[in-house]
Amino acid sequence: MDKAFREHVEQGIPLNLPDKKPYPKNANRAPHRKDILSAIEKKLALKNALRYFPAKWHAVLAKEFLAELNTYGRIYMYRFQPSYKMYARPLAEYPTKSKKAAAIMLMIQNNLDPAVAQHPNELITYGGNGAVFQNWAQYLLTMKYLSNMSDEQTLHIYSGHPMGLFPSSIDSPTVVVTNGMMIPNYSKPDDWEKYNALGVTQYGQMTAGSYMYIGPQGIVHGTTITIMNAFRNILTEEESPRGKIFLTAGLGGMSGAQPKAGNIAECITICAEVNPKAAIKRHEQGWVDELIDNIDSLIQRVKTAQQKNEVVSIAYIGNIVEIWEQFDAHNIFVHVGSDQTSLHNPWAGGYYPIGLSFEASNDLMTKDPQAFKSAIQQTLVRHVASINKHTSKGTYFFDYGNAFLLEASRAGADIMSENNIDFKYPSYVQDILGPMCFDYGFGPFRWVCASGNSLDLDKTDEIAAAILEEISETAPPEIQQQLADNIKWIKEAKENNMVVGSQARILYADAEGRIKIATAFNKAIASGKILGPIILGRDHHDVSGTDSPYRETSNIYDGSKFTADMAIHNVIGDSFRGASWVSIHNGGGVGWGEVINGGFGMLLDGSEQAQRNLDSMLFYDVNNGIARRAWARNPGALSAIKREMERTPFLEVTVPHLVDEDVLNNLATD
Ligand SMILES: NC(=O)c1ccc[n+]([C@@H]2O[C@H](COP(=O)([O-])OP(=O)(O)OC[C@H]3O[C@@H](n4cnc5c(N)ncnc54)[C@H](O)[C@@H]3O)[C@@H](O)[C@H]2O)c1
Repeated sequence: MDKAFREHVEQGIPLNLPDKKPYPKNANRAPHRKDILSAIEKKLALKNALRYFPAKWHAVLAKEFLAELNTYGRIYMYRFQPSYKMYARPLAEYPTKSKKAAAIMLMIQNNLDPAVAQHPNELITYGGNGAVFQNWAQYLLTMKYLSNMSDEQTLHIYSGHPMGLFPSSIDSPTVVVTNGMMIPNYSKPDDWEKYNALGVTQYGQMTAGSYMYIGPQGIVHGTTITIMNAFRNILTEEESPRGKIFLTAGLGGMSGAQPKAGNIAECITICAEVNPKAAIKRHEQGWVDELIDNIDSLIQRVKTAQQKNEVVSIAYIGNIVEIWEQFDAHNIFVHVGSDQTSLHNPWAGGYYPIGLSFEASNDLMTKDPQAFKSAIQQTLVRHVASINKHTSKGTYFFDYGNAFLLEASRAGADIMSENNIDFKYPSYVQDILGPMCFDYGFGPFRWVCASGNSLDLDKTDEIAAAILEEISETAPPEIQQQLADNIKWIKEAKENNMVVGSQARILYADAEGRIKIATAFNKAIASGKILGPIILGRDHHDVSGTDSPYRETSNIYDGSKFTADMAIHNVIGDSFRGASWVSIHNGGGVGWGEVINGGFGMLLDGSEQAQRNLDSMLFYDVNNGIARRAWARNPGALSAIKREMERTPFLEVTVPHLVDEDVLNNLATD
């Protein structure tokens, strides 16, 4: 074990004040946040930050932290960023008494690895504001607690702040995380700005603040499934996506997966990105084939790609609205269109206005937030107007879960359908993921090989493929397409070179698939076929984990999509069924106040206890959401839960009686 690393971790807040370090060259710095605090509130923010440190440092740190607050809008405590390399080490290299705690340390370090994280120095993993911690003191203290704790304690983390270790039991989660949980009336975007600047809450996004991010692979898979099914929605069985255009925007943390997924789905992907650094990073990583920074060259290149029926992905360094408008002017037909700019965070760098350079936009954002806001709103109106022209020619457009439709409607864009209640366009969950995946329990199951050994990952791929093939032999017709897509995915995953950071893999599976795959992993660990333990988890963007009316639960039509009971039950239910850690967040994906989402992590070490945990927790973690979706009368979920009740003793779910529409049609209710 690396001695310096061990000592650093065990020490927590260092005994001697570390030197100030220069900001790393070429780092992708988080956007400067709003200067929102009053003079009195700034003093409170400083007092809050200084409570992590001994009084003898306060005079020096108070000045330094005030400068950070005034310059960046937040106190990151850059001076305390550790100098050791940040990456997912093999599990055995973590100085701990608890293997579960070591697994969490591995996952935290992976989320902050500069190869994985969007703004690693500001502890942001993805989405512009998806924080693992608010500041480096919280990181140091958390690592220290994890290193010291036993399996009979639980570490409670409040929005990045480790409140402490509390006695619990061997069956309890090692860590319980909450992020951004607010009293509902204090959950507006500016509340995040204010309370995050005060240092008392954070935006955990989904897998950022729950340590379950696995780089863009997770989203490549979901995006591939979505693009393939989007083309299936518009093409005949004989047609293929080759030579057909998928136009979208964003090459950031998650959105960066779009071109790679487009290549796997075999179409022409054009993806706009205003931040040259983000576009170049994805190009260097091989996630996008070509970079173009001039609209005329883009138009020429796309025409050639269409003539030659190419499978190619092109990043356009510029604003997405330019492409929509110019493609309309040049009569380039877009088959499938979407958008993954960060509109969950529209006023703080998630979406950029047309007509201003990237730098000028960032300048305006901090110097004149009101003018920036109105530039964004005008851009959204133009953006939608151009999309409307394309869809009138036959383009299939869907919202990609980034609050595009919501923010466009708030900006006054022509986005509402005739009934003035629904949007003109569906969300990808309404049309694709909801009815085709979530209602049947299919969602983004993932695992990380804690040995750090790629041979372990190869073995897990083989095991998972064999299990899915076996399940598909007797599976009902309605889930055959899902199984087939995921068998193809897992067989090609290695050659698609998906790993960035930890040795991780994702696929979509239902409860049966997840439990059978996990069981086979646990056995392979016990027999030594797999060398090290495995960490299971999932994206929060799943069947049961997330209540989000315009995204994960947008295909819930009984009026309950504005409730968050499912996500809360899920995190509580998982916590006493064997999860190694659980988390529940406000915000993530579509914005602060717009979603409640949760997740879990589970260490498999080959033991019988791990088997009991996975049997109990994975089952609930999927079927909770299917039960709720069935109660909402979703046909796929109804058939899935009935099938589950037939084969599972002690499962008894309340199922709805369906009403004949004629009974209602004949009533006068107005
Ligand atoms: N539906 C899903 O499965 C899903 C998955 C991932 C992310 N999302 C959502 O998609 C959004 C993007 O996520 P991310 O992690 O990539 O965020 P990100 O902030 O890392 O990336 C967004 C990118 O969009 C670029 N951008 C902003 N405005 C632009 C414009 N007008 N033209 C061109 N480029 C522009 C930004 O420079 C940034 O690089 C988020 O809102 C996220 O919640 C949805």
